[in-house]
Amino acid sequence: MTPRPTIIDCDPGTDDAIALWLALASPELDVQLVTAVGGNVGLAHTLPNAAAIVALAGKRIPVVAGADRPLLGRFIDAAHVHGDNGLGGLILPSGPPPQAGLASDAIRARLREAAPRSVTLIGLGPATNLGLVFATEPELADRVAEIVLMTGAVGEGNATPAAEFNAWNDPEALAIVLACGAPVALATLDVTNQALCTPDHIAQLRAAGGGATADAAARIWQAVKFSRRSGGLGHEQHDACAVAWAVAPHLFRHATVLAEVDCGPGIGRGRTAVDRWHRSGRGSPATLLETVDAAGFFALLIPRLAALP
Ligand code: BDR
Ligand code: CA
Repeated sequence: MTPRPTIIDCDPGTDDAIALWLALASPELDVQLVTAVGGNVGLAHTLPNAAAIVALAGKRIPVVAGADRPLLGRFIDAAHVHGDNGLGGLILPSGPPPQAGLASDAIRARLREAAPRSVTLIGLGPATNLGLVFATEPELADRVAEIVLMTGAVGEGNATPAAEFNAWNDPEALAIVLACGAPVALATLDVTNQALCTPDHIAQLRAAGGGATADAAARIWQAVKFSRRSGGLGHEQHDACAVAWAVAPHLFRHATVLAEVDCGPGIGRGRTAVDRWHRSGRGSPATLLETVDAAGFFALLIPRLAALP
């Protein structure tokens, strides 16, 4: 198997950390660049967190700083979920200093030198950095095999009744990415809510052993409050669903839809309108991940976390 060139843009973030480790442990992916964006907490935390997460997994991959606020709207974090440092209070050993430069420049440089339709771009935070890439050099969309985004909600949002956090944080950037012309896959809340980490999964991870990374992952899982949305049964592994689609698509049922995002100022701001029946003639084609085999997802995730150093 030839690992696919992959770039991950993220805002770690407790579930981003798990997702990054899944990607770094996956032989299907060759993660060549990690970029950070402000989201769950400010860039002052997401950037060093990304560097520390990569280093703990024993990888030497460039980590580059991106935007610390959305293109147009107000920046609002989710520290109430992820803790003030973004990792549920867990302090990881520091990683190396980030590579100089800006995320969107670094992504565009990688894409420019890539073969057509070769790069998998995984977006786990607000789409600001990715939006800047395609706003400034739209022709690079043809280098992308697929853009996989954890974003949006078909049903109820988690930031507002209408909107999921990443989409709500920067809908203008998301609109640019959805319309860029590259194939897009959407892991919305409707599917990521199905990947619920329960005490049983935490016990399985502990039992799987592993090194410092698995220990950190278990500590993160223990630190995050179980969500009200799940009835207090666990917490959702939103971002790891996006990575799992890139690694093991057989775990998902999916449909081709038309998708667009509400960039208005009202209560619908950040809402992703998903047209499963192609009635509207609006929006851009996207692959909507509808269901995930949750048992298969954790059977993939836990041993891979345990296989890292
Ligand atoms: C998304 O928002 C963030 O809080 C998570 O990291 C995930 O990317 C879920 O709505
Ligand atoms: Ca995230």
